[in-house]
Amino acid sequence: MHAFTFHNPTTLHFGQNQLQKLSVEVPKYGKHVLLVYGGGSIKANGLYTQVTELLKGLGATITELAGVEPNPRLTTVHRGVELCRSNSIDLILAVGGGSVIDCAKAIAVGAKYDGDFWDIVRRKAVATDALPLGTVLTIAATGSEMNSGSVITNWETKEKLGWGSPHAFPKFSILDPAFTVSLPANQTVYGIVDIMSHVFEQYFHHDASSPVQDGFCETILRTVIDTAPHLLEDLTNLEHRGTILYCGTMALNGVLSMGVRGDWATHNLEHAVSAVHDIPHGGGLAILFPNWMTHNLDANVARFKQFAQRVFDIDAAGKTDKQVAEEGIAALRAFFTRIGAPARLADYDIDNTTFESMADKAMIYGDFGNFRKLTRDDVLKIYEMSL
Ligand code: NZQ
Ligand code: ZN
Repeated sequence: MHAFTFHNPTTLHFGQNQLQKLSVEVPKYGKHVLLVYGGGSIKANGLYTQVTELLKGLGATITELAGVEPNPRLTTVHRGVELCRSNSIDLILAVGGGSVIDCAKAIAVGAKYDGDFWDIVRRKAVATDALPLGTVLTIAATGSEMNSGSVITNWETKEKLGWGSPHAFPKFSILDPAFTVSLPANQTVYGIVDIMSHVFEQYFHHDASSPVQDGFCETILRTVIDTAPHLLEDLTNLEHRGTILYCGTMALNGVLSMGVRGDWATHNLEHAVSAVHDIPHGGGLAILFPNWMTHNLDANVARFKQFAQRVFDIDAAGKTDKQVAEEGIAALRAFFTRIGAPARLADYDIDNTTFESMADKAMIYGDFGNFRKLTRDDVLKIYEMSL
């Protein structure tokens, strides 16, 4: 296990009726609230009314930034920064999924930075401050509600890049499974794939002594695999919604990576696909992850064998380690397909004509990944396997 320091300052309010905690949290920061939300799902399911009535009851003035796109765009961040400056905003409240929260993180940091926020994404400047941010989460997926990361798309340059800062942690996040009930089946599936992918990114490493972290990862994976089919049969089941919601937060709030070094190559591969084709993040991961695994199997067969046996109960009797490992990867592919996730880039009408430009995006900072460094040739190979 590597030496590590763990600090997560986000206060988590989880469960039924926790929206009421807005009346405890909001007054800590001030009266002028920038309410950030997406394309209208919170108006359709009634959450917008609940939140605005609570805020008005607290005497808050509300400025709105609506229409944050899935795969949120730099232009929207710029609009938000302007609204913060012209309305003396005290608190940003993001109500929505990972895209809304990521955009709100960028606005929070951008409002305290004199230059163009893109400088921070491109590592030309470092965030030194941020407006306070609170979130009300509506989709189990990214973990953005309790981490310091964010992913922003610059549509002009066709770049989709992650950035992070200790200043970007939400001060508080409110998670009520009831707010995720209106999520349609396809988005629920993308979220499930994303959650599992976050675990994979932290599970596939070469550190020999991580039994506790392995157990955390394997428990989350098994729980998601057990729960997902039941949830997809009944999208209104609050117990299953709650289980997946909790898995999503725990998968990427830093707990799983204590003392181990994650990989994150597949996320980089996927962000490059989304940058060029604007596809859902979870859909891209479902296509790419099993192929990343197959491509890198030989880097640590024992690790893949452990995954196969402990997560998918693959019987090892009479088989080589590699066969067991391969059966684990096949079981993952079959699981993704069973829950309705895409399997091929062709499912999004992507053919090999854009592979070079996707590879350019993926290679922006050079070779990448910690489990095994991927070169440009590896990147192209994995895209080809995913056709
Ligand atoms: O825009 P609205 O109308 O709200 O609709 C959204 C959107 O169309 C809809 N939705 C969300 N909650 C709903 C709902 N519809 C009905 N009922 C609800 N309760 O779902 C659609 C997708 O929302 P989005 O926020 O884009 O999904 P997600 O949470 O998966 O976020 C994806 C973004 O997060 C980034 C991804 O790259 C992508 O840009 N990521 C952020 C990470 C982080 N900050 O830590 C890590 C992740 O790996 C990921 O890269
Ligand atoms: Zn992800």
